[in-house]
Amino acid sequence: MQDQELLDYLKQNIDGRRLCHSIGTAHEAVRLAQRYGADRDKAYIAGLLHDVAKGKCGCELQQLASEYDISIDDVEADNIELIHGRLGAAMIKKQLGIDDEEILSAIRWHTTGRRGMTLLEKIIYIADLIEPSRDFIGVDDIRSMAYEDIDLAMRKALQEVIGFVKKRGFALHPNSIEAYNDYTKEEKESI
Ligand SMILES: [Fe+2]
Ligand SMILES: [Fe+2]
Repeated sequence: MQDQELLDYLKQNIDGRRLCHSIGTAHEAVRLAQRYGADRDKAYIAGLLHDVAKGKCGCELQQLASEYDISIDDVEADNIELIHGRLGAAMIKKQLGIDDEEILSAIRWHTTGRRGMTLLEKIIYIADLIEPSRDFIGVDDIRSMAYEDIDLAMRKALQEVIGFVKKRGFALHPNSIEAYNDYTKEEKESI
């Protein structure tokens, strides 16, 4: 599939600000893929399309979830935006015919993370947070760790995201807690 076709598809689904974030994420993901020896084309496509289901209102998300047969758990019901990763993966599979499981799972899990993340899943999770337009306290720490040790960057990134979710008063998704525990455990084991 041509780059222009992907961009056209994206423009039909998201606004200009999010398009800028998506292009930034795609380029960051390619740089990380180069650094860690992952597939650059898959990193680009997953980065570009990761937020294709973001920015839709709650009603539309509910409707699309039922259309794509996506289950909604209690935490997601309280914060329906959380399903945009799983929904985005389902959308591009059906609408664009992308059936590469590495790309789909990187998009599916970029919102919550999960236990035992693959390299491409980590790359998209981190690229999403550190692409150039991102600006939050702690982003520079994650940026500098990302190219040194992606697992250390994941731990820091999950810490920041979990802190942000708590501050906003939302419940933590079990997948995010399991992802965080994964990296905490890894760090302890290496001491
Ligand atoms: Fe997202
Ligand atoms: Fe994003």
